[in-house]
Amino acid sequence: MGGPWVEPEISRTVAVEVWFCSVDDLDCGDHDHISTLLNPDEQARNRRFLVEYPRRLHAAAYALARHAIGRRLGLPPMELRFDRAPGGRPFLAHPAGALDFNLAHGGGLAVCALADGCRVGIDVEPADRPELSLELLDGLLAPGERDRLAGRQGSARQEALVALWTGKEAIAKAHGDGLSLPLDRLAVPEGDGPVTMTAIPGALPPVWRLHRLRPDQRHRLALALALAPDASALICVHDATEVFRGRRPPAASAGSA
Ligand SMILES: CC(C)(COP(=O)(O)OP(=O)(O)OC[C@H]1O[C@@H](n2cnc3c(N)ncnc32)[C@H](O)[C@@H]1OP(=O)(O)O)[C@@H](O)C(=O)NCCC(=O)NCCS
Repeated sequence: MGGPWVEPEISRTVAVEVWFCSVDDLDCGDHDHISTLLNPDEQARNRRFLVEYPRRLHAAAYALARHAIGRRLGLPPMELRFDRAPGGRPFLAHPAGALDFNLAHGGGLAVCALADGCRVGIDVEPADRPELSLELLDGLLAPGERDRLAGRQGSARQEALVALWTGKEAIAKAHGDGLSLPLDRLAVPEGDGPVTMTAIPGALPPVWRLHRLRPDQRHRLALALALAPDASALICVHDATEVFRGRRPPAASAGSA
């Protein structure tokens, strides 16, 4: 499993932050500025995106991670160093073990979840994702989930599909194995609550929990946490779009002054 393992917390409140940035609400100059907030490795990776929209989302996710984690730790964002575990899960390599974080970027939102003392996973999807269907998820559903979805029609089914898929992805990302985790052994609740996992290595004790968040009208987030059943999470959601709006790269600012 990827990244340094963080022991589940027992009987205490864990402070969790979820930051998001809407790239649709930023202009070209904002995006040029955002790309200067990445380190050289991240910039090189960013340049490999051939399509502009996912490239902007990727850059925003890393700028957001640097901003949010730097603020939480009281460190300049560029002092942070990220690394990636074998399964692809990013983790904070410097300062090592200071906190756990996870990223998602899609549907116009870049999202970063972070917590000190518990493992986190985050997933984002547009509220209306028409290509998600019962047929597409065939083989990935736990007992009971198919019946739950089949009992819904129209927009209620679509909402339930998005909740189910974001929930599974968030747990898979908190765990670290991503989509190679046997998702059909992962029974996610419809709303907030504990997740049942059957015989997944590294999944015990059963302390995985999901929280559903609505950052805006258009998106749905699922936040997965590895917490003891009697521990609680204090979740703060921050819209960082304004942090990146109206900013310009240093050279552009100097030129326009
Ligand atoms: C992680 C995964 C679920 C991402 O799903 P997605 O909907 O395409 O993308 P999201 O926007 O939700 O998340 C992307 C981010 O998740 C993070 N991520 C990648 N792999 C991850 C993993 N295994 N666990 C947790 N987070 C992961 C990364 O930060 C990634 O963004 P980046 O590559 O720009 O840094 C999917 O790509 C996956 O399963 N990857 C693992 C690959 C795999 O199966 N490895 C097996 C062993 S090698």
